[in-house]
Amino acid sequence: MGARAVFLVGFMGSGKSTVGPELARRLGWDFVDLDCRIEACEQKSVPEIFRDQGETGFRLAESTALQHLTQSLERDSVVALGGGAFAQEKNRTLLRNCFSVFLNAPVEELWKRSLADGVERPLRKDRDQFARLLAERLPGYRQATITVETAGRDVVSICGEIEAALQLRPVTEGGRPASAVSGSSNSRSGESQ
Ligand code: S3P
Repeated sequence: MGARAVFLVGFMGSGKSTVGPELARRLGWDFVDLDCRIEACEQKSVPEIFRDQGETGFRLAESTALQHLTQSLERDSVVALGGGAFAQEKNRTLLRNCFSVFLNAPVEELWKRSLADGVERPLRKDRDQFARLLAERLPGYRQATITVETAGRDVVSICGEIEAALQLRPVTEGGRPASAVSGSSNSRSGESQ
């Protein structure tokens, strides 16, 4: 990756697509939505990919798009991942040295927000299934570089917290937080850099 990047992760309704463009605007960086990249590559919408290729096909397209993105990013970017991307260990491994932000909120708020934005989500079925899927994914999300609690907060305040974290640990080209490059223990996995 020849550019700086911040990856926004979290469940459906966590605000990645709202926070992402605003954070990018404030940093003067590009905004990239991984689901849009997948749709462009497959020439189908996300629900169509699920319908035609199943979740397995979608996950394959998602990992391929993420790998391609990390290898080809040329401009500093804020990247929003779909809700399942960071839940996959393979994708977390790919991003292990990158600055990632887990946008967290209570399940009730996620459920309400995910219904309100009008996006069709094949993996949002009913309230109980939604809560179970979130619980399953939380340990993965928690491996992000930082966690930001979003409940009851506006986008300006959320972006401010992320910017403050970025000032403490500026992201270098290649996506790594600077302190990780200098060798302090900042890596989620605790691996040496
Ligand atoms: C998914 C979330 C969606 C999209 C796809 C799968 C998931 O993205 O990637 O429907 O597995 O949680 P959003 O988190 O933007 O809704």
